[in-house]
Amino acid sequence: MYILAINGSHRRGNTDEILKKILDGAAGKGARIELVRLLDEKIENCKGCMGCETTNTCKIGDNFPKLFDKLLKADVLILASPNYFNNVSAMMKGFIDRMNAHWKNPAIAGKKVVLVMPGGYSKESIKRGMRAFEEFPRICKMTVVEKLMPHVDGPNEAKEDKKLMQECLELGEKLVIG
Ligand SMILES: Cc1cc2nc3c(=O)[nH]c(=O)nc-3n(C[C@H](O)[C@H](O)[C@H](O)COP(=O)(O)O)c2cc1C
Repeated sequence: MYILAINGSHRRGNTDEILKKILDGAAGKGARIELVRLLDEKIENCKGCMGCETTNTCKIGDNFPKLFDKLLKADVLILASPNYFNNVSAMMKGFIDRMNAHWKNPAIAGKKVVLVMPGGYSKESIKRGMRAFEEFPRICKMTVVEKLMPHVDGPNEAKEDKKLMQECLELGEKLVIG
């Protein structure tokens, strides 16, 4: 089993720690894991040229096609973004927009997705952000199997929250053993 996690945080903080722990859990049960940080990738924003509407490909030459290939191969895709203004981060939104060439692709329909969105403000804000995040897999007809939206704010809060870290480890294990 191959589990791909995509981190849309603009820093190495809570989202990163959460993902590392989920992936630790999955690896412990035998999964092949990979963590891609959009922060480290050269992925440009969609130019809105609409070329993909007719060609089903994007003419921008950057790292996106490589990432999309990984996404296609993943048995479980973990999409993670901190809550920014009750929505996904700009980097995660940039990635989502680049999926315009592929959202109708039957190869991604039914793909298992875990959504992770830490937030530092109110419960309502955290819920609204997740609602916005859920739109992407819904439009792509992917299957959301787990959602995690912990309340953490300072960059080390997730790492220091033992209960959360344990929950993440167990979530990772569950993704493999069911
Ligand atoms: C630009 C910006 C906007 C934010 N907006 C929200 C918000 O609307 N709701 C919320 O719960 N947290 C919000 N936060 C807090 C982050 O979601 C929170 O600190 C999160 O733990 C950051 O995760 P990270 O360490 O992986 O980047 C915002 C943070 C930033 C930088």
